[in-house]
Amino acid sequence: MQPVILDNLVGEFREARAVVMLTGAGVSAESGIPTFRDAMEGLWAKYDPSQLATPEAFDRDSETVTRWYDWRREKCATAKPNPAHLALARLEEHLATQERGFTLLTQNVDRLHQAAGNRNVVELHGTLWVWRCTRCGIEREERTVPFQEYPPRCARGGARRPAVVWFGEMLSEQALKQAHDALATCDFFFSVGTSAVVEPAANFIYSVRHRGPKTVEINRDATPISRVVDWSLLGKAGEVLPELVRRAFGI
Ligand code: OAD
Repeated sequence: MQPVILDNLVGEFREARAVVMLTGAGVSAESGIPTFRDAMEGLWAKYDPSQLATPEAFDRDSETVTRWYDWRREKCATAKPNPAHLALARLEEHLATQERGFTLLTQNVDRLHQAAGNRNVVELHGTLWVWRCTRCGIEREERTVPFQEYPPRCARGGARRPAVVWFGEMLSEQALKQAHDALATCDFFFSVGTSAVVEPAANFIYSVRHRGPKTVEINRDATPISRVVDWSLLGKAGEVLPELVRRAFGI
């Protein structure tokens, strides 16, 4: 199905000087990674997030929480960037050759954007590839799948947890500052593959729209911001994004 991309969007996007792209789990869905809230196959459909994605859950049962994240790590380990990821990598590279800005704010923890080649990536919710000792705070990238012990431990015996943002936790100061700096100067804001219900990312649209940037949503389904953006494109990210960057920039 040919995605519906309006000529006026293509024409305006072609002139963008500084693009901010907010992505969510829908961008990785076509790589075979479950989203959170999809009614049938979503992660939250099968598991109660409050039992798995909170500091209290980890304190209560670090083995179960670690095994759940290890299951997700195994899915991510075999996942490949899909056409949506690849289109965003081409877009960042193209804009850089013309000294135009591109910032990718992702809620995803799978690092598929980096695997596709994106460089200016802000991991708002961290990543499941880095694990942090709960005792000494040291963080280390862990690519071996599956773990040999649950949870993995640091040399001093401290339990290590995923370096992700759990329910009830704050985003890192650095990620928030990077996001706000990019949002304050962009002239095009995209929200792609996110249900737009989790703060603070769900509010980014409101922090930019009053300033005048053009706003676009690309999503398989309507969301609470579909009526707020200038263009709401219903479709799969892996189809709409490649078509949009091809028509706007010939890449
Ligand atoms: P959700 O599962 O809440 O939403 C995924 C969105 O992507 C939905 O709107 C789907 O309709 C849409 N979607 C699914 N497949 C798609 C496709 N192929 N192309 C385009 N859109 C598609 O995931 P997020 O919005 O990313 O937070 O969830 C936000 C946060 O909630 C996550 O980062 C996580 C969760 O709690 C933390 O872990 C802190």
